[in-house]
Amino acid sequence: MAEQITILVSTMTGTAELVAEEIADALAAKGEEAEILMMDDLDTDILSISSAYIICTSTYGQGDIPDNGQAFVDNLSIAAPDLSGIKYGVFALGDLTYNQTFCNAGNLFDAAFTKYGAVRVGEIMRHDASSGELPEDQAGEWAEEWLERLKAA
Ligand SMILES: Cc1cc2nc3c(=O)[nH]c(=O)nc-3n(C[C@H](O)[C@H](O)[C@H](O)COP(=O)(O)O)c2cc1C
Repeated sequence: MAEQITILVSTMTGTAELVAEEIADALAAKGEEAEILMMDDLDTDILSISSAYIICTSTYGQGDIPDNGQAFVDNLSIAAPDLSGIKYGVFALGDLTYNQTFCNAGNLFDAAFTKYGAVRVGEIMRHDASSGELPEDQAGEWAEEWLERLKAA
């Protein structure tokens, strides 16, 4: 059965958006349509349009959520929505050079979604920019595995 999947993107310099596009392509190749939305000015009501979400986020500052995603998380704790009908995955981009805060924005989104009852499918994907591998090259395979888990969940 086709899932309704929405990909939410939080990024500073655009890499997470490239990852989201690769994920959407990989899901489309499996017959699943995914909509990509940047988190800028996004209302938390958006969490009622799908039953499955993927969060693509990088980490900035000292383990912080990129500027375009911070308000979304802040608004989540104000709206405190019931997310118990939602399944989600997290593709976090970071750099192990920042070893104390590696991919921390992914952890922050994960904690926020879990807090309101959403259920994560699979482990958080943590991409290390210092590995020399491009995150967009890993995104397709990750998305395929995630989709399998989503269908089995
Ligand atoms: C100023 C700066 C601060 C960063 N801080 C962190 C951090 O605390 N933890 C981490 O894992 N990565 C950190 N990164 C790495 C980015 O998250 C990583 O390069 C990511 O791929 C950028 O993706 P984006 O283009 O979608 O923003 C930092 C990068 C910069 C330039």
